[in-house]
Amino acid sequence: MDFPAIDLPPGSVAVVLGTRPEIVKLAHIISGLGDRVQVIHTGQHYDYALSAAFFDAFGIPEPSAFLGVGGKTRAGQIASALGALDERFASEAPKVVVVQGDTNTTLAGALAANAYEIPLVHVEAGLRSRDRRMPEEHNRVLTDAVADLLCAPTDVAVGNLVGEGVPETLIELTGNTVIEAVGGLMPEPGKRSALLDEYGLESGKFVLSTIHRPENVDDPDRYETILEQLAALDLPVVLPLHPRSKKRAESFGLGDLLSRLRVIEPLGYVEFLALSAESGFLVSDSGGVQEEVSVYKRPVIVVRRSTERPEVLGTFARLVEPDAITETAASWLSDLEGVHAQLATLESPYGDGSASARIVEAIGRRFAGA
Ligand code: UD1
Ligand code: UDP
Repeated sequence: MDFPAIDLPPGSVAVVLGTRPEIVKLAHIISGLGDRVQVIHTGQHYDYALSAAFFDAFGIPEPSAFLGVGGKTRAGQIASALGALDERFASEAPKVVVVQGDTNTTLAGALAANAYEIPLVHVEAGLRSRDRRMPEEHNRVLTDAVADLLCAPTDVAVGNLVGEGVPETLIELTGNTVIEAVGGLMPEPGKRSALLDEYGLESGKFVLSTIHRPENVDDPDRYETILEQLAALDLPVVLPLHPRSKKRAESFGLGDLLSRLRVIEPLGYVEFLALSAESGFLVSDSGGVQEEVSVYKRPVIVVRRSTERPEVLGTFARLVEPDAITETAASWLSDLEGVHAQLATLESPYGDGSASARIVEAIGRRFAGA
C-alpha cells in the first residue's frame, strides 16, 4: 500500500490499543505512520494468542508501553488506562492520539487525549447499534463525542454522525481498515488447503464459530442454547474459544456441550482467515467477523440482539437469536454452493482496501504542524 509522506515528528502520533480487533484494524495505519508512531498497549488483552501473536502476524513493532489493565472490571480498565496515560501525557504529550473501535481501551485513550487537548482520531467512527445494554455502544458514542477526526467506514456511519449533529468538517468517509487487514494476510488457496489437512477438515464442509459477547456468554441459558444449537448442526463445528467464553463455560458447567464441538485455542490471524474462507459458513457474535465475511464471501449467522453493522444484513449476515441458529443454517445448507456463488457476486460495503492510507493522509493534512 502506498502511504503519503506526512510532516509529523518521530513518535508524535500515539496509537492507543489493547485488544485483538484493535490490533487487526490499526496494523496498516501503524505501518503507514512509520517512525512517527508510538504504540501504547493498555494490556486489556494480554495472552499471547490475543495480542502479541497479532503484532507478529502483521510485522508491526512491539509497543513502546504496556499499561497492564487486563482482567480488571470495565471501570477498572478505563480508570487504570486513563491514569497511566495521564502520567505519560503529562511528561510528554503526543501531537495526535489515534484510537479504534469501541473497547474500554478506546474510551480511555479518547478521554486522555481530551484531557490534554490533544487532537483525537477515531478510526471506525459512527457505528451505532442503538442498544444501550452493550458497553461497546457507550464506548463508541462517548469516543465520537470527543473526537476531532471521525473516520467513518461507510455512508451509514457518516449518516449516524451527521444525524447526531457532529460537524461535517470533522468527519471523513474512509472505508474500513479491515479490508486491507484481510487482503494483506489471507493465505493462498494452497496454504489454506494444507491447513485444512492439518485440522482434518474438508473445504466447505465445516462451520467456524466464535462467541465472546457478554450478552451471550455471561448468560448461562443463552450460552447453553448457543452451544446446543451448534452441537445440533450436521457439519463439524470448529470453535476457537475466547478466554472469557472458556472461563464462563467452566463456571456454568457447560463442558459436556463443548465436548461435542471442535474446541481449540484462539487462532492466529492467518489461520483464522484461512479457516474462515474455507468454511461452509460462520456462526459468530464478533464485530470484525461480520465485516471480514464480505471480503472472502462466506455467510455468517450473527448471534446477537442487535448489530451496529447493518451494511451486511440480508446479504452476508443474518441476525438471529440463539434458538434460531439451526433453522437459519438449514436454509443455507440446502444449497450452500449456490449461497457462496451468490455472495461471490457482491462487493464488500466496507471499502476498497485504502482506508488506512486515507486515514494516514488525513492525519497529515489536518494535524501536521499542530
Ligand atoms: C473486549 C471488548 C470487546 C471486544 C473484545 C475482543 C470491551 C468492553 N470489550 O471484550 O468489545 O469485542 O475485547 O475480543 O472493551 N482474558 C484473558 N486473557 C486475555 C484477555 C482477557 O484471560 O488476554 C479474560 C479475562 O478474564 C477478562 C475476560 O477475558 O476478565 C474479558 O476480557 P476483557 O478484555 O475485559 O473483555 P473481552 O470480553 O475480551
Ligand atoms: N480472530 C482471530 N482468531 C480467532 C478469532 C477471531 O484472528 O480465533 C480475529 C477475527 O478475524 C477478527 C478479530 O479477531 O479480525 C475479531 O476479534 P473479536 O471477535 O474478538 O472482537 P470484535 O471484532 O467482536 O470486537
